[in-house]
Amino acid sequence: MWRPPQRIRYELPAGDWPDAESARAARWFQPVRLGPLMLEQRTWVPAMVPWRATEDGEVTKDVLDWYARFAAGRPGAIVVEATGIRDVPSGPLLRIGHDRFLPGLRRLCEVVREASEGHTRLLVQIIDFLRIRRRPEPERYFRRFLVLRDEHRAAVLRSEGEVEVEVGDDDAVREALLALPPEDWAKVLDERELEALHYGDRERVTDLHLPHVRELPRVLPGLFAAAARRAREAGFDGVELHYAHAYTMASFLSRHNDRDDGYGGSRAERLRVPLETFARVRAEVGDDFCVGCRFLADEIIEGGSALDDATAYGVAFAEAGMDFLSLSRGGKFEDALLPKVGWAAYPYTGPSGYDCMPTVLSDERGPFGRNVEASATIRAAVREAGHETPVVVAGGICSFGQAEGILARGAADIVGAARQTLADPDWFRKVHLGRGVEVRRCKYTNYCEALDQKHKQVTCQLWDRLELDEPDVPLCSDGRRRLVAPLWRRASEE
Ligand SMILES: Cc1cc2nc3c(=O)[nH]c(=O)nc-3n(C[C@H](O)[C@H](O)[C@H](O)COP(=O)(O)O)c2cc1C
Ligand code: SF4
Repeated sequence: MWRPPQRIRYELPAGDWPDAESARAARWFQPVRLGPLMLEQRTWVPAMVPWRATEDGEVTKDVLDWYARFAAGRPGAIVVEATGIRDVPSGPLLRIGHDRFLPGLRRLCEVVREASEGHTRLLVQIIDFLRIRRRPEPERYFRRFLVLRDEHRAAVLRSEGEVEVEVGDDDAVREALLALPPEDWAKVLDERELEALHYGDRERVTDLHLPHVRELPRVLPGLFAAAARRAREAGFDGVELHYAHAYTMASFLSRHNDRDDGYGGSRAERLRVPLETFARVRAEVGDDFCVGCRFLADEIIEGGSALDDATAYGVAFAEAGMDFLSLSRGGKFEDALLPKVGWAAYPYTGPSGYDCMPTVLSDERGPFGRNVEASATIRAAVREAGHETPVVVAGGICSFGQAEGILARGAADIVGAARQTLADPDWFRKVHLGRGVEVRRCKYTNYCEALDQKHKQVTCQLWDRLELDEPDVPLCSDGRRRLVAPLWRRASEE
């Protein structure tokens, strides 16, 4: 993962743990309404992909264990990981693109309800993404993937290499291109071809020459609506439309979206697919089912959308009737680091990825609460436009003091924590019970994120080697790590 060059090492913020009485009175532990849905508390577990579904996208026992473990900490809400809305293979990521996924998803809702004793509400993040190929071997790229153009042919016909290329012999053209010194590939291939060679081919929402990409505005609303209907049928309390990071909807919102078919260019046009999708979802599930979205307060990439865009998006989403707005930042492909051959580019490896999941080695701004200022701006604009839509903020928040401060100054209505909750799924409960000193605190060094990057089952370095010999401990496929945090024994003694 990219690290800021300053490499300033930060200490964790003071916990400022309250006693039980102060915790009960604290803002963080007060209820909040998300349209039709009441949360008992303003604590929130943002979506985290743990790589535990089957290759067919089905819920497994490991998925159930993972969410049950978070539910035991009784947060106000848990958002289930990014779950695919299409019925296409996508590896061990959860899917909701067909009714056959319903039994597993139903079980997931039941398990969370049981484990939280009814205290936690469960939402599911629903996602669409475009195709991305793994970085190919150059041989494979030139022999199989490259679509030959006349410029390629001309370049090697002109070249004075050892390979003789005859006009019309495309196989020889491919071999000649492959035989060029690698530094010459940049002279022959265009920008997209070079990207496909070095990073793996990646579709964009602006690829209007591809019929399925051109049709996205017609196809996405129905896919999201059907997924939301299934979420409702499965027993979820709501859906979070994934409009953030590197995926299809965020790409429509991006300033890089210059589609010329009415769905790109100006801000209003970039908003059309996300708004039309929301309208279709709402029509499908009705007003009594919670629907919100996660989007980026800033893309953190050159020429990308920034806070002024996000503020306008927030107001537009609130105006349209979304029940909550959840903010993230960064996490883009545009600045991702070179993947190894055979791996796909990963949108959390560059500077924008750093902003999404910052670590303790940071810059002057530090890793804690990097999204809070942006959240304050967006929330203020939403309020000024006359909407009470709750705003969820996350990113480097791991103490009671931070959360209370954010709520007290009106920077957000709900404060989420992903990695801190992975480090200690009971932490909200511990703080609520006045036992904050027992919180196992996240180190923010991103061991978990590195596992995610390798598509390995995500665990936390603070607990994955503990008590491995206990009976019935579910283990990773490598047998060396446990899959869920050990129980908080003192809680079970109460
Ligand atoms: C292992 C892992 C998986 C993640 N998966 C998702 C995801 O599916 N959807 C999403 O919107 N964010 C995802 N995120 C980002 C988190 O939701 C969160 O925004 C980010 O980690 C910053 O919050 P934190 O500092 O509290 O961890 C993931 C983060 C981690 C560490
Ligand atoms: S692995 Fe590291 S960064 Fe991830 S949750 Fe655990 S302590 Fe935090």
